[in-house]
Amino acid sequence: MTDKGTAPFLDGKITSYSSAEAVRDFYETDGANWSENYAAKEGEKRPTNPAVLRLNLVRKLVARYGCDNMLDAGCADGPVMMEMLRQGKTIQGFDFSPTLVAKGKARLREGGFPEQLCEVGDLTAIHLPDASFDTVLCLGVLPHVERLDVALSELVRVARPGATLILSFRNDLFDLFTFNRLTVEFFADHFLSAIPSTGEERERARTLLDGLITNPSLPAPNYTDGGAASFGSVTRINHNPLTIGEQLKRFGLKHGLNCYYKFHPVPPLLEKHFDNFRDLGAQMDETMSFSWQGMFMCSTFVSVFTKERNEGGS
Ligand SMILES: C[S@@+](CC[C@H](N)C(=O)[O-])C[C@H]1O[C@@H](n2cnc3c(N)ncnc32)[C@H](O)[C@@H]1O
Repeated sequence: MTDKGTAPFLDGKITSYSSAEAVRDFYETDGANWSENYAAKEGEKRPTNPAVLRLNLVRKLVARYGCDNMLDAGCADGPVMMEMLRQGKTIQGFDFSPTLVAKGKARLREGGFPEQLCEVGDLTAIHLPDASFDTVLCLGVLPHVERLDVALSELVRVARPGATLILSFRNDLFDLFTFNRLTVEFFADHFLSAIPSTGEERERARTLLDGLITNPSLPAPNYTDGGAASFGSVTRINHNPLTIGEQLKRFGLKHGLNCYYKFHPVPPLLEKHFDNFRDLGAQMDETMSFSWQGMFMCSTFVSVFTKERNEGGS
């Protein structure tokens, strides 16, 4: 694992770690039916799948920013691209999973669109020319990328000056809402570490904190978020919505807004007490994407950035 001191993942919290090859292997095998995550589930009043909740949010943002001439970086088998093409937008995408790209090409052909709109490519060495796109989407991908510094430089390189970048992240602040091991770790990493004292006092505080939490050993390491068991072992990195704007400044990005999806009406530990847990969350997703509560009640967020124009005003 990369030394946290060099922080190419921009101060994120690594919740699980694998090589980039292992991430690709996951999307070549257990994750190779990605678009199934967008299918309506029987008996659901409203969609509750996180991929659909994110797409709904992206629809709102695309309308709000008038996005077009788009790149979908890490497009999988093309669900977002297909939606944008149906809206009449210009878009192309790439993904590093050849299996998913083959499926994406098949979907494009079936929909009457050129299959070249979906190609194999890697976020850390994008095969496309500089300053090509007015909008760059990167959804559900960056949390898997350890060389986030390289990936962001590449996304910015292919964006035109003034372009809109819509990027999704896993939310570090959600750990405060979970009342479990992650909460204790959040306190240790961000609050106890700030106490001006000896390590001994910090250790004591940490032990006492464990006692305040009724589930200090949950979730188990490599938890799966309800996905395939193998999802638990691929790289997942959380980022802080309060600092992401500052973190990405050095890539020439100006932060616009944060918005949130995948609301939890109560901490996940209490899900079993609420038959309609997911539907309640989905209702909140419909109306609360831009609320401050989302910063804590959602495990994921989308940040909108603008690529700075250079001094010549290009
Ligand atoms: C969670 S899926 C999201 C797919 C799609 N963006 C969506 O919103 O439906 C993550 C995708 O990122 C791709 N991916 C991960 N790391 C990548 C990289 N370094 N370069 C290109 N694609 C990558 C995976 O193959 C997978 O298809």
